[in-house]
Amino acid sequence: MSFDRTIKIAPSILSADFANFGAECAAIEAQGADWVHVDVMDGHFVPNITFGPATCAAIRPHIKGVMDVHLMIAPVDPYIEAFANAGADVITAHVEAGPHIHRTLQAIRGAGAKAGVALNPGTPASSVETLLDMVDLVCVMTVNPGFGGQKFIHSQVEKVRQLRAMIGDRPIHIEIDGGVDATTAPLVAAAGADVLVAGSAVFRGGSVSNPAPYGENIRAIRAAAVV
Ligand code: DX5
Ligand code: ZN
Repeated sequence: MSFDRTIKIAPSILSADFANFGAECAAIEAQGADWVHVDVMDGHFVPNITFGPATCAAIRPHIKGVMDVHLMIAPVDPYIEAFANAGADVITAHVEAGPHIHRTLQAIRGAGAKAGVALNPGTPASSVETLLDMVDLVCVMTVNPGFGGQKFIHSQVEKVRQLRAMIGDRPIHIEIDGGVDATTAPLVAAAGADVLVAGSAVFRGGSVSNPAPYGENIRAIRAAAVV
């Protein structure tokens, strides 16, 4: 995985057909997705349950590029090895998920994956200031995690700006997750984000048998973000 700050569109398979993840991943990549974003939820840290490492491992062979695994689980540490073994390129844990985010990030890199740290909307940018030498990605949640299709929380744009200034020249991605579409993408791109997660705005109108709308949706978000 090389580093650059060009805009990357990362469709979230939370909005895909759960009975057809392999074909959905292949379809979004064929339609221009840069990364595939995989939302893991435990019904404890967030009020929804999705799937775990076995599903990630099953999906992996169907993804040519980056598998970006977003862990909305607590605790995190007992499962890091399993998600790394499942083939995650990036593993992102929430700063709110436990008392020892520093240890968690060490463990993610120790397992051979890129380390991401995610911030809920109520968590300030300063919470990751002392972690910047050990992360490859900061994920700014622009909705409260748990569900796709929620409304973008505009107050988070200023947080993205603060993080971008804080990060400076460090090779750290800023990822935006929640409510990203062609209207909100330019706001966060201008503030310094480079990875745009989008679930409903990518999968809307398409399917595995009719994937062209995925491509149209991805191109619309990218065109809006690249200014
Ligand atoms: C929310 C997830 C997001 C979500 C984004 O808890 O982390 O990745 O799927 O979905 P949209 O783009 O529909 O807001
Ligand atoms: Zn996510």
